[in-house]
Amino acid sequence: MPFSGVTRVYRPNDEEAHLLDPQDSETSARSLCWTKPPAADGWRGTGNPAEVRRAASMPLCAACGGWAEGAWWLPSAHARRAFLPEDPQEHSRRISDLVTAFWPSGAAVEVPLGTVATVALLPLSDSQAPVLARTIAELPPGGLIELMRATWAELWIRHPYLTECASLLYRWLGTASDETAQQVTELTHLLLRAGVVEHGADPGRYLKADLFGRLLQQLTARSEKGRRGAFHTPDFVCDFMSEVLSGLSEGESIGELAAGSGAMWRAAAAQLRWEGKDPASLPWVGVEIDPLAAATLAANSLLWRLGDDVLVACADGLSRDSGLGQARQHRARATAHRDAFVASLRE
Ligand SMILES: C[S@@+](CC[C@H](N)C(=O)[O-])C[C@H]1O[C@@H](n2cnc3c(N)ncnc32)[C@H](O)[C@@H]1O
Repeated sequence: MPFSGVTRVYRPNDEEAHLLDPQDSETSARSLCWTKPPAADGWRGTGNPAEVRRAASMPLCAACGGWAEGAWWLPSAHARRAFLPEDPQEHSRRISDLVTAFWPSGAAVEVPLGTVATVALLPLSDSQAPVLARTIAELPPGGLIELMRATWAELWIRHPYLTECASLLYRWLGTASDETAQQVTELTHLLLRAGVVEHGADPGRYLKADLFGRLLQQLTARSEKGRRGAFHTPDFVCDFMSEVLSGLSEGESIGELAAGSGAMWRAAAAQLRWEGKDPASLPWVGVEIDPLAAATLAANSLLWRLGDDVLVACADGLSRDSGLGQARQHRARATAHRDAFVASLRE
């Protein structure tokens, strides 16, 4: 099989990526490989010259004779970045549409939402995540669930309070059935291909669109949205409002009484960065009555690198102290617990 001289051309917006070489009459046969779902038949794409030697002992794909080993169906980190939609809001819309189309309606919303959050937060727990994506994609379902649990454990060491506040998004990992693990694996493969790790690694993307909020809205739209007016402010409106309200200085805090997933926080954080300020240097205070939205707000606070001076109260904002007293106690407890745990490791 002549691999040399083959140019990889990815089309990440479609559900396929082609190997194209104008001189190569076998191109169309090879491109078939990329259209097969990775989990369905074990086929993992076509190698390149550098990979051929390593793959020499691997079985061949029946359709094109390529090497059937490893997650080669996943474009490299470089190629994924190069072919992402330029507009982060368009990128976020495509990811949300993909997840909503893939995940059966009626099933638990926290599983797909938690899967997206975990994949997007991989770069926060390990800066090498983009280049490790292929290794992650090769994990069997049980291994992937373990990796996801380890990711949240790592995030807890760094940001214990926010990680605990986000627990609805990953608690299910502890009891995931084989069927759920399989679905999560297939979804993760789609997310890796759609550039969710790249979204989570790049402030120019994650601060430009509220991916989790959009997804929460789309997934719950199929079930219960509307009960509490859970319609989120569009990203561009938030950006406009933040520009109008720009000029926050140190000592000021950013509060929101019915915070949802934090659409306004995202815009404020983006504005702060644009002004050369670190969003983590300001206090953030949010109240949200819906537990899943509050968990999403906490996950977003991690994604947007808001630091640890964040309070997420899952409470009625119209109540006497808006749940902020309890939230402060929770934050102090979580931080002390983490500190004691880390100290015990050093003993
Ligand atoms: C219209 S959304 C606004 C979300 C966000 N501020 C934005 O701009 O996208 C309203 C949110 O307020 C929450 N909410 C409604 N009543 C609330 C209350 N009494 N206390 C706290 N949150 C409330 C809902 O659960 C929902 O997530």
